[in-house]
Amino acid sequence: MALNNLRDFLKAIDEAGELARIAHPVRARLEIAEIADRVMKSPGGGPALLFEHVLLENGQRSTQPVAINLFGSMRRMCLALGTEKLDDIGGRISDMLNLKVPEGLLGKLAMLPRLAEMGKFPPRVKGGRPPCQEVVQRDDAVNLDVIPFLTTWPEDGGRYITLPMVITIDPSRGIRNVGMYRVQVLGRNTLAMHWQRHKVAAGHWREMAGRGERMPVVIALGGDPASIYSGSAPLPPTIDEFLFAGFLRRQPVELARAITCALDVPSEAEMVLEGYIDPAEELVLEGPFGDHTGFYSLADYYPRVHVTAITSRRDPIYPATLVGRPPMEDFYLGHATERIFLPLLKLTVPEIVDYHMPAPGIFHNLVFVSIDKQYPGQAYKVMNALWGQGLMSLAKVLVVVDKEVNVQDPNEAWWVALNNIDPERDVRFTMGPIDVLDHSSRAFTYGSKMGIDATRKWKEEGFDREWPRLITMDEKTKQDVDGMWEKLGIRLKNVSGEQ
Ligand SMILES: Cc1cc2nc3c(=O)[nH]c(=O)nc-3n(C[C@H](O)[C@H](O)[C@H](O)COP(=O)(O)O)c2cc1C
Repeated sequence: MALNNLRDFLKAIDEAGELARIAHPVRARLEIAEIADRVMKSPGGGPALLFEHVLLENGQRSTQPVAINLFGSMRRMCLALGTEKLDDIGGRISDMLNLKVPEGLLGKLAMLPRLAEMGKFPPRVKGGRPPCQEVVQRDDAVNLDVIPFLTTWPEDGGRYITLPMVITIDPSRGIRNVGMYRVQVLGRNTLAMHWQRHKVAAGHWREMAGRGERMPVVIALGGDPASIYSGSAPLPPTIDEFLFAGFLRRQPVELARAITCALDVPSEAEMVLEGYIDPAEELVLEGPFGDHTGFYSLADYYPRVHVTAITSRRDPIYPATLVGRPPMEDFYLGHATERIFLPLLKLTVPEIVDYHMPAPGIFHNLVFVSIDKQYPGQAYKVMNALWGQGLMSLAKVLVVVDKEVNVQDPNEAWWVALNNIDPERDVRFTMGPIDVLDHSSRAFTYGSKMGIDATRKWKEEGFDREWPRLITMDEKTKQDVDGMWEKLGIRLKNVSGEQ
């Protein structure tokens, strides 16, 4: 059975032995972040944390507990998506994309359900009063000050919503988008929406602002974990994230009509902020914010959201995350994306064997790619293809290696890559869009990229020396030593230093 809401998810995490409940009073300002930082940096990502006694900015006790680091381990990321292994979801996508037409009528008929799998579980809008609307506060009753939004780092511009599903609609095509964009709390009923210019909802906003139309926006907190994850996934603008979440869960996501705007909200959310952006209003200063780069992102101008209603369960749990110097919880969300999207990358760049975005590279700074090289210059073909794909276009450094290199191990990937390159010959620079969070590019969101061809060089690529072979022990000797290992009395320490 799929997990339907945050409570189901917390229960599953607890049963897996990965939940720590904290009864001690802790402040939403900085203290939760400092605790979460220590936990997230512990081996394997540490447990999920449920803070039961949270103190607000004014010192009063919050009526809401705060959950953090929910997705912050491989096990919990798999639990969230209802899978044993993240690659199994990639496998489901591969099966769906394998369009070889089988022999015979029965084979052809058997193919139909597979083709329909992505669209099999569309979100369902139901009437009645959903759990997320058990309590409704509208207009003057809206008060964001009583919600335990976190201040995560000392120089942050304010309190932030860090694990939201931001729901908008493409004004011309009517397609919904769900994005995980941080939101700054500006006052009792106003927010600043940090959707970066390359993201789908920012496109919706540009179009609506151009038409001079008021833009409805919903910020949902909590809900089923597959939907929360989907908000962080770089899906093309034509795919509704709730449809994708339905595919992941193998069950539709249930929605309900928002009360004060023309959008649908996830019925099982803990809390929903409904609101709008007025195109006639000036942008507001958002930030600075201690970001997942490990640096403070500079303050910049973003749209102001007016909150027209807060709806919630009777006893909502506030879900949050913390970003900062890596590794943090977002590594696991990004890693799920890496695994799930591999088959989609392979669809257009079939020579890709594997790819990996290691934690210190914070996704857009460094991508290792292994390829099955069949012709000269293929590493450059792959780089150009990747720089032309969705958010992969923001990748700053791409390192391409041959297929036998395990790119999941950055030490192995760098070891081979650094051995294989003649820097002047194998490194190329190009220009392109750069992630909004990059503080080093010559201009905001525009700058250079580096591609490193660390594949073995071929004669046709002008390499006329002999290429050496990798050192490996022969199988016979390895087996002989395996046989005598116990008798040798040598005890090796594992990585954590234990014997
Ligand atoms: C914890 C976390 C925080 C994020 N914060 C932001 C943000 O503030 N602004 C932004 O544009 N993207 C942010 N992202 C990245 C987006 O969620 C991601 O690029 C996603 O693909 C955007 O959805 P879209 O493709 O529908 O625009 C964040 C991701 C995570 C995991």
